[in-house]
Order: sequence, then structure tokens, then C-alpha cells
Amino acid sequence: MDFQAILKTVGILSLVSAALSVIISIAEGVLNNYGIVELDINNGKKKLQVKGGSSLLSTLASEKIFIPSACGGKATCGLCKVSVQEGAGPLLMTEEPYITPEERKQNMRLSCQIKVKTNMKLLIPEALFNIREFICELVEIEDMTYDIKRLRMKLPEGQTIDFKAGQFMQFYTKPYGKVKEEVFRAYSISSKATEKDHLELLIRLVPNGICTTYVHTVLKVGDKVRLSGPYGDFYLRGDCEELIMIAGGSGLAPIRSLVYDVIEKGLPHKMRFFFGANTLRDLYYVDEFEQIEKDYPQFKFIPCLARPEPSDNWQGVTGFVTVALQDQVDTGEGKEAYLCGSPGMLDACIKILKEKGFTDETIFYDKF
Ligand SMILES: Cc1cc2nc3c(=O)[nH]c(=O)nc-3n(C[C@H](O)[C@H](O)[C@H](O)COP(=O)(O)OP(=O)(O)OC[C@H]3O[C@@H](n4cnc5c(N)ncnc54)[C@H](O)[C@@H]3O)c2cc1C
Ligand code: FES
Repeated sequence: MDFQAILKTVGILSLVSAALSVIISIAEGVLNNYGIVELDINNGKKKLQVKGGSSLLSTLASEKIFIPSACGGKATCGLCKVSVQEGAGPLLMTEEPYITPEERKQNMRLSCQIKVKTNMKLLIPEALFNIREFICELVEIEDMTYDIKRLRMKLPEGQTIDFKAGQFMQFYTKPYGKVKEEVFRAYSISSKATEKDHLELLIRLVPNGICTTYVHTVLKVGDKVRLSGPYGDFYLRGDCEELIMIAGGSGLAPIRSLVYDVIEKGLPHKMRFFFGANTLRDLYYVDEFEQIEKDYPQFKFIPCLARPEPSDNWQGVTGFVTVALQDQVDTGEGKEAYLCGSPGMLDACIKILKEKGFTDETIFYDKF
């Protein structure tokens, strides 16, 4: 084949593939045009006319109904469950790991995975209608360690938030750099529940993480920040004499809020807070927790360094937080445990707690 014939063939192939992609995109547009469909919520109590084609989670969010979600719709948190009585189609493979046999009977579905294509009948707990959206102003951003920042946000003038210490908010990014879409992630509230016109979050940088890179490199004081919440069932039960609190990294956030909750309510519980870190540079809020120890003898702060540097001159507990738990917590009797941190650390701690007599009813945690 001569050079001109090759050029002609390549040209024809390019034209055919361009034509095919136009046909595919037109077909997609037609097929995905589900028109306006009706969402019937709680047996006719609320009826919404919505545009079909998006996930149920984002369709509800655009109607200001915020379903809990920690993974931003990636089917990895399992929090976005909604009972769909009609209109969802069969259970998807991505949903299967999160829906128990009992939940299947109740038609529970992951709202981030199912698309709104036709009229649907939903059952949504009334409590979720209290979740609100806030457009806050970032008033402070502070380095707590080399990879954790504290964000302090002011709620819009005249607005307040009621949350239970330990709960989390969803934080929405804006498109930046190569990230063309908004994403949202869960962050535990670290501030006091009594402070209703501000919210504080502690955000650890995850290398290449979309949201944390946005927070650590793009966000600046004065920016508007969109949040929704509060969400979650990690909050104080307090049906005991002593609270064993355990955290690593940014898992300190909800524990800080819980400690202040107990103190400000004047509750009688003893508290021991085991905080696991690698080296001295991973510790933060140490002065504050030591001051609380002095002011409130019911509270003990036990930082544990797994791998202190010689230059750290560390005199405290050395080893993983599990070592301190093993040594210092005798029994689960009269105690509840509140844990927050990485799945690996939490699983190891929960194993030890159960050996000491804690049960599923006395252990509460948020893994992240
Ligand atoms: C209930 C709840 C509360 C949370 N509270 C906090 C909080 O107070 N402070 C806080 O910093 N984070 C918290 N998180 C984690 C947070 O929601 C995000 O998952 C995290 O910040 C990463 O988001 P990203 O968009 O930067 O990373 P992504 O873009 O989602 O992830 C980028 C890559 O990093 C991996 N990755 C994601 N998270 C982690 C991680 N934690 N460690 C290592 N690798 C990871 C992903 O698998 C992926 O490969 C919480 C999570 C939950 C479920
Ligand atoms: S939002 Fe996390 S599984 Fe649906």
C-alpha cells in the first residue's frame, strides 16, 4: 500500500470513529433522559418532582435532603442507606457487601449507587430532615502538626447548629486544578457542642487525596466553605462510671469534643484518653489536654509514642496504644469505650477491649 492509500485509510477510520462517538453520545443523551419523575417520601408525606438521571443520594441532596455519606458516593462507607419500596431495580454488586439479609427485607439500598430513572417510593427517617446545609466562612486555618490542619468556620450570621459531641459534618470542595467536580468527605467536629455559631475540624493530609489536598493547598482564610450535617451515631451514651477514649491522628477530633461535653455538662464520669502517635511531631493539643487534667482530676491524658526519636527525649508511654490499653485497663466492667482512628488501630484495640470484657454494647467507634 502506498503512502497516500495509508493516509486515506487512516482518514476514513478517524471519520468513522468520530461519527460513532457522536452517535454514542446522542444515544446516551436520549437513553439517560429519564425526564421528570416523582419521589414519594414516607407514604405521601412529601412528594418531589425531580429530574431523573442522577444518583438518589445527589438527587435528594439537590432537594436539601441530606443522607449521611462518608465516602462521597464511592460505595466504601455504607452509610447512605435508604429504604426504597419501589423503583430501585435489583440490588447491585457494589451494594451487596453493605446490605444485611435483614436490611434486604426492608428494601434498604445504598442511595449513592442507585440511579433515579423512574418514580420511586422511599422511607426516610424523620431525623434526617433536620440535617441542614451551611455556607460558612473560614476564619482560621492552623497547622497542628506537619500534616494536620485545624479549620475554624463561622456559620452565616444568625444561624446556629445543634450537634451531639462526636458527630461529623460533610465538607464540600470546589473544583480546583485537575479536579473538575465537587467532592464531599466526612470530618468529625472537634469543637465544643455548646459553641453553636462556629465549627472546627481537624483535617489530616492524605497524599493525593482530593479533599485533603484542597484543604491543605487551596483553602485560605476568608473563603466560603459548604458543609452539611450533623451526621452519625458516634456520641456519648454515658451509662457507666468511666469512659475509655482512644484515638490516633485526626481521630482526636471527636474525642476532644466529647471530653468538653462531659466537662461542660458537669457529668461525673472518669475519663482516660489514650492518644496514639508515632513520634513527638505527631502529638498535638498536648498543652490543652494537660491543662484539662490539672483543672479536672476526673480526666487523664495518656499519649503513647510508637517510635519516638532519640531527640524526642520521650519520658511517656512507649509503644502502640494497644500496649498501654493492655497494661492500664483492667476490666470492661462499669466502662464504655469510644474509639476513633485508622481501621487497623481500632481493630487491634477493640480485640483487646473485648478480651477485657467490653462488649458491642459498650464499644463505640468511627473508623477513618
Ligand atoms: C465518620 C468519618 C469521620 C471522619 N473524620 C475525619 C476527621 O475528623 N479528620 C480527617 O482527617 N479525616 C476524617 N475522615 C476521613 C475523611 O472523610 C476522608 O476519607 C479523608 O480525609 C481522605 O479524603 P481525600 O478526599 O483527601 O482522599 P481520597 O481522594 O478520597 O483518597 C485518595 C487515596 O487515599 C486513600 N485514603 C483515603 N483516606 C485515607 C486515609 N485516612 N489514610 C490513608 N489513605 C487514605 C484512598 O483509598 C485513595 O487511594 C473521616 C471519615 C469518616 C468515615
Ligand atoms: S456514600 Fe458511601 S457507600 Fe454510599
